[in-house]
Amino acid sequence: MDNQIVNEQIKAIETSIRRVISTKSNSIELVLIGILSAGHVLLEDVPGVGKTTLAKTLAHCLSMDFSRVQFTPDLLPADILGSTVLNPKEGTFHFQEGPVFHHLLLADEINRASPRTQSALLEAMNEGQVSIDGKTRPLPSPFFVIATQNPVDYQGTYPLPEAQLDRFLLRISVGYPEKEDELKMLFDRKTSDPLDAIEPVLDLPALRALQDEIKEIHFEHDVASYMVELIRKTRNHPELSLGASPRATLAMFRASQTRAFMYGRDFVSPADIQALAVPALGHRIRMSNQARYSGQTSADILESIIQDIKVPT
Ligand SMILES: Nc1ncnc2c1ncn2[C@@H]1O[C@H](COP(=O)(O)OP(=O)(O)OP(=O)(O)O)[C@@H](O)[C@H]1O
Ligand SMILES: [Mg+2]
Repeated sequence: MDNQIVNEQIKAIETSIRRVISTKSNSIELVLIGILSAGHVLLEDVPGVGKTTLAKTLAHCLSMDFSRVQFTPDLLPADILGSTVLNPKEGTFHFQEGPVFHHLLLADEINRASPRTQSALLEAMNEGQVSIDGKTRPLPSPFFVIATQNPVDYQGTYPLPEAQLDRFLLRISVGYPEKEDELKMLFDRKTSDPLDAIEPVLDLPALRALQDEIKEIHFEHDVASYMVELIRKTRNHPELSLGASPRATLAMFRASQTRAFMYGRDFVSPADIQALAVPALGHRIRMSNQARYSGQTSADILESIIQDIKVPT
């Protein structure tokens, strides 16, 4: 595919999203990296910063059929996966597909559902299929989950277990807008909702073509070795009680290729790896109690690891 066309497609998606979400943070870029890398994304932030709006806007831009599920403690696995129902007129049973049978599932406030329901989503995210009533059914392809989670509201929530967090390619926080962006947000919404004016930018075949192209982005052996060293350092770090898994290594490999691609390069550079360290690894590592009490964040520790490793030239 022509580089120029590709760049225009990606710019067009970003521009569309920016029409709805006013932010200077790199959250829009990161969400796009997640989707183009065929990964699931966890949007974690305080209430009201536009998480749901961002996910909805993306679904519209990519012309994906999407469904949104508000996770609550009484949500059952069947509410997400679907179930066998009886047609009383004909006396027959048929399978009624649940909301996972869409290209994009927006799992809003995922930490409010019970662990049983969360783990039903886990198989879907990992395998691209679900098993219901002893039968395995494939999900549409591509299948993405954008989950949102609010980190301050702990009451009545079930924090996602490590194994579940590991299934998200990136964890992204949206952050508060700058003053001028917050002002823009007000006047953009004075008479109508900009989300209603969003037109699809990319269709599914075009999205698949982009994803295939990204796999061709060159990854120098030295740069890959730098990335693996960074990840390995999380595994025996004195301030971490859990390091990043090989699944994280694979995730970072693909996400780095996508970032390079979005920046118009045909090769991955150490800058891609550094920029993705926190969003790709931050949710997969666990700090030791001592580090947590000393007020450090997982981002601080990842930053210090980056400082410690020699960057390949
Ligand atoms: N940066 C922003 N730019 C534009 N609109 C924003 C921004 N932040 C918040 N909003 C607006 O604020 C409202 C709330 O946003 P939204 O529902 O997406 O938040 P949320 O993060 O999902 O909140 P919650 O955690 O409570 O579900 C929406 O009308 C949204 O358009
Ligand atoms: Mg929301």
